Amino acid sequence: MDHFVYHDGRLMCEDVAVENIAAKVGTPLYLYSANTLRSHYRRIAEAFAELNPTICFSVKSCQNLSVCRVLQAEGSGFDVVSGGELFRALQAGGEPEKIVFAGVGKSDAEIMQAMTSRIGYFNVESEAEMENLIRLARQQGQVVRAALRVNPDVDPRTHRYTSTGKKESKFGVDLERARRFFDTYGRTDAVRLCGIHLHIGSPVNSVEPYVAALTRTLELIDQLATAGFRVEMVDIGGGFGAYYDNDQQVPVAAEYARAIIPLLRGRGLQVVLEPGRSISANAGILLTRVQYLKQSGEKQFVIIDAAMNDLIRPALYEAYHHIWPAKVEEHFIPNHRRGLLSHSAAPAEASGAGKCQTDFGVPAEGMILADVVGPVCESGDFLAKGRALPPVQAGDLLAVFTAGAYGFVMSSNYNSRPRAAEVLVDGSMWRVVRRRESYADLIRGEVD
Ligand code: LLP
Repeated sequence: MDHFVYHDGRLMCEDVAVENIAAKVGTPLYLYSANTLRSHYRRIAEAFAELNPTICFSVKSCQNLSVCRVLQAEGSGFDVVSGGELFRALQAGGEPEKIVFAGVGKSDAEIMQAMTSRIGYFNVESEAEMENLIRLARQQGQVVRAALRVNPDVDPRTHRYTSTGKKESKFGVDLERARRFFDTYGRTDAVRLCGIHLHIGSPVNSVEPYVAALTRTLELIDQLATAGFRVEMVDIGGGFGAYYDNDQQVPVAAEYARAIIPLLRGRGLQVVLEPGRSISANAGILLTRVQYLKQSGEKQFVIIDAAMNDLIRPALYEAYHHIWPAKVEEHFIPNHRRGLLSHSAAPAEASGAGKCQTDFGVPAEGMILADVVGPVCESGDFLAKGRALPPVQAGDLLAVFTAGAYGFVMSSNYNSRPRAAEVLVDGSMWRVVRRRESYADLIRGEVD
């Protein structure tokens, strides 16, 4: 699953005790495991191997250059949605022909940058954008490739802020319009419209929405073929789930593949995948220290040094992130995070620790029930509410799990808080891959 397990009561990232890194680098701190990134990438590549897909890691999920480099070395391409992400993907050594560019509002400057970089293709989201792309390609005397993003109108059953494939979403065009789109632009010289792109939401924790969306999209592709338009590639976007909770069930790559491959088999389409979260989420944790404990009425607060500016997902989507101390007594170690040494200790069931894994607000013997909150001046600044935790004290180090995707990338300087450092662990080696911001960084760019 990932490379974060407890050995002798201490949380390890691969071969390194996370508390040693936190002691040197300070907190809050994002910590990524290179071997988790690799194994998640490989699982997707192996699961979909029959289709020989181009896998384009979604840079928006975790953009650090060193993270992108790990995936580039595995053969990954990149899905980008801005000129800045394109810049990053190229800096990370990304091969231009394996870079795909989506987004509803690409500016002229971004389109020109992508054309100059000779990226693989543009995922076009509207007629107006297509007109603009044609104009700029003609101006440059270049022929570029494009895929039309369609909106197959399926419900991905995800948070309303991360659902993208419904008819009324701002992304792509509906299937009716897609046919007309090809009639109008399918034979344009400067922009070769040769693919269909879809991305229905994130995370999509079941396979059915993919099957529904792809089935509709393939009908469209067949209708287009009848009308004389050959679609060569299909980009099915991202959205595969990641494991956030101790007993959460999400399909693994092989299950998505089992549902998707039969639909695409034998069609001769070039298949593109844009996974983000399924590669990066479980590859990262956020480390934070307990600052104070506070009791207000009946409520227990654990006040930590990370806040909504570091990890906004709980505040924005009411997202759940498992939080657990980096150093715990043996019987508090969740079963699935037991390393080799911990395995040899008393079985969890025997010690009653089985209960502490179902931390749905029912504390087991010796545990506390608390809100885990940050120092930002907003009541929305929490990382967990009503959470059962082993007893903690000021100074204790906590790990916020599954924070590798949409964690650091969505962080901000709200309340003039310098952004956290990022560290990459690879086996027994680790290094800072983004320095903690300083106060000078906070005012850089401001003009007196
Ligand atoms: N492709 C496109 C066109 C996308 O819009 C996205 C994500 C992906 C690929 C990658 O999706 P993934 O495999 O990571 O699910 N901030 C939210 C998630 C927003 C996703 C936006 N688009 C969160 O924290 O849950």
